[in-house]
Amino acid sequence: MKMPLNWFQLLGTLLLIGCSDVQAAATVGRACNVTATMPGICRTSSECEPVIDGYIRSGVLKLNDVPSCGLGAWGEIFCCPTQPCCGNGVSTSSSSTTRAPVATTVLTGGRVDVPTASSGTGDRPAVAACKKIREQRQQKSGNQLVIHIVGGYPVDPGVYPHMAAIGYSTFGDLVNFRCGGSLIASRFVLTAAHCVNTDANTPAFVRMGAVNIENPDHTYQDIDVRSVKIHPQYMGNKYNDIAVLELERDVVETDNVRPACLHTDPTDPPSSSKFFVAGWGELNVTTRERSKILLRAGLELVPLQQCNNSYAEQPASIRMLKAGVIDTLLCAIDQRLIADACRGDSGGPLIHELSVEDGMYTIMGVVSSGFGCATVTPGLYTRVSSYLDFIEGIVWPDNRV
Ligand code: ARG
Repeated sequence: MKMPLNWFQLLGTLLLIGCSDVQAAATVGRACNVTATMPGICRTSSECEPVIDGYIRSGVLKLNDVPSCGLGAWGEIFCCPTQPCCGNGVSTSSSSTTRAPVATTVLTGGRVDVPTASSGTGDRPAVAACKKIREQRQQKSGNQLVIHIVGGYPVDPGVYPHMAAIGYSTFGDLVNFRCGGSLIASRFVLTAAHCVNTDANTPAFVRMGAVNIENPDHTYQDIDVRSVKIHPQYMGNKYNDIAVLELERDVVETDNVRPACLHTDPTDPPSSSKFFVAGWGELNVTTRERSKILLRAGLELVPLQQCNNSYAEQPASIRMLKAGVIDTLLCAIDQRLIADACRGDSGGPLIHELSVEDGMYTIMGVVSSGFGCATVTPGLYTRVSSYLDFIEGIVWPDNRV
């Protein structure tokens, strides 16, 4: 995922080394820009939160709009507006809607807005499976607190327990991770066709339950890939870029490893929805450095027509996109052109976050392609709801969930 360098953050005991910009950028008191027209100053979260609160409440800034200055000794430092918002004075509220650098605890018990029956008659398998996932999750979490970073960039363990890193064998015992995927049932991972379509691209295993991909400091599961099912109409271009991996065995479901719901609704989600892309892909197109920790970025959907126009301006892309941006694709962008999926994020999810508080989400798209990373041309995603028949035929062949 492309992020500005100063979005690096220590996660638990992780240390990101060799990044002097981070140190330099993370100085409290340094001038910065909150937006192109709003000057800011780098402040600790506790100093910044009351200031930011007013901006968010009055709708001037959104949670995800507040840039990071990097990581200080005691946590993330924010690029905070220099003035309180809108002449209303600084809000003294300790509202948890502020972009919190620390984990926000949210009670999930009783707040999950889903039917309790596990599979109503007539539900298609993907819908019945989703009901089951949510039911199990509800039972498991009960009144426990579920922790997540609200609007934060690194993803805490257990926030996206469906997240799979796809491992490829290289020479000797070396493995590398070049693509992401989503666990959609105990033995199946959804990914992009172009991640798994050649001999050199044959996945060896998936790593589940890891946030730090190299040195997981909590339990993770590596499970071999038994078979790869590529969409029959995938022709090496930007259409039908979707595949399902069957694993050698079921995952062991834990708080950090659990399948996610597929997005089954073909209509546009409500405008209050949030979208995130998550992955371990490149942070910087020049250095090609990959993220060792799972990151996510908030994105906005771009209407197809508008997206089509953007791609029409990129002759280099048109060869692979002969029919233009059609409705089996989704387009998403970070309007600030700061964050985007990038090389290495392919196959990972475009997540539709139904309710950030409850942590309910669905997999709406699969990271497929783009034109550079974080350019004015939106990222392209395979639209999951267009491929339910293909997915269900593999994952629930007899329609039994
Ligand atoms: N094709 C890339 C991959 O293999 C993902 C590209 C996504 N690019 C983007 N700008 N959204 O990892």
